[in-house]
Amino acid sequence: MRIGILTSGGDCPGINATIRGVCKTAISHYGMEVYGIRSGFRGLLDNDIIPLDENSLTGLLSMGGTILGTSREKPFKNRANVPVSEDKPAMMLKTIRERKLDCVVCIGGNGTQKTAAKLAATGVNVVTVPKTIDNDVWGTDISFGFDSAVSIATEAIDRLHSTASAHQRVMVIEVMGHKAGWIALYSGMAGGGDIILLPEIPFDIHRIGDTIINRLKKGKPYSIVVVAEGIPTLGGKKAAQYIAEEIEYETGFETRETVLGYIQRGGGPTAFDRNLATRMGGHATELIASGQFGRMVSLRGSEITSVPLSEVAGKLKLVTEEHDLVIQGRRMGICFG
Ligand code: F6P
Repeated sequence: MRIGILTSGGDCPGINATIRGVCKTAISHYGMEVYGIRSGFRGLLDNDIIPLDENSLTGLLSMGGTILGTSREKPFKNRANVPVSEDKPAMMLKTIRERKLDCVVCIGGNGTQKTAAKLAATGVNVVTVPKTIDNDVWGTDISFGFDSAVSIATEAIDRLHSTASAHQRVMVIEVMGHKAGWIALYSGMAGGGDIILLPEIPFDIHRIGDTIINRLKKGKPYSIVVVAEGIPTLGGKKAAQYIAEEIEYETGFETRETVLGYIQRGGGPTAFDRNLATRMGGHATELIASGQFGRMVSLRGSEITSVPLSEVAGKLKLVTEEHDLVIQGRRMGICFG
């Protein structure tokens, strides 16, 4: 059995641990051959494929990024008026045939799941593993990378507390999450944010201002505001800048903004993510060994299982008002807008 493995979309901590989990199980347990496809689906277009052996896997568990490289190549997009010789799906199928790959493992976020589902629909044996710091892949409780990003964001919020308190300022911190506010919710709650703004929950700037003023009245002259990058703003402003300006206008409080950016995506995975990535990678190989294709590995409760890829593609897992952290946060007086 010959497996190809690729990593696609934005990187996150834990990808290399997943590659290691897939490949070590495949090579040492099942005696399969494993090939690394470089730069996501682009590697299938360019026939850019390297053999992987146990030596290639040394040191991967704790390493950030991806040894295979990644890209945001979407080979099934914009195919109108493309000459047959440049038809990307056909190019990928040619590579898979030429390289005699029996299966392709795709590690990626929502875009990757969509592309992988389309590849599976052409008859290729595909297994996927969900990967994103945003935690918005539908069909799994948690994606690896999320815990690492939340840990980094939480530490950043912890650090903002002391400087906010020293200067009696409002500190606004922007974390990643375009459509889903999972990082803002989890790091905001873990970091003791006073106001947490998510793309999923509409906010009222007057209520945010009132929260800050009421805190002052209770003897708390500083506030921490955690915002997801995807909250709606006016004038094309970035989330943190917009909220900081509005708060200053509403309250007259000195306000500062911090954009955490790619720090929360870089570097190595937490112990939780290493173990999740290892378990998910191993399960991907189990699916291949048992001939269960067209499936995405998933975490349900504490169990690693899988779901049909066709059910995942095109859906997003968003925060809802019913999430227990939102309910508990509201009970404790945290303002969600
Ligand atoms: O990995 C997901 C994500 O981190 C989003 O939250 C973020 O907006 C996006 O990727 C940005 O990635 P890039 O700049 O690499 O496209």
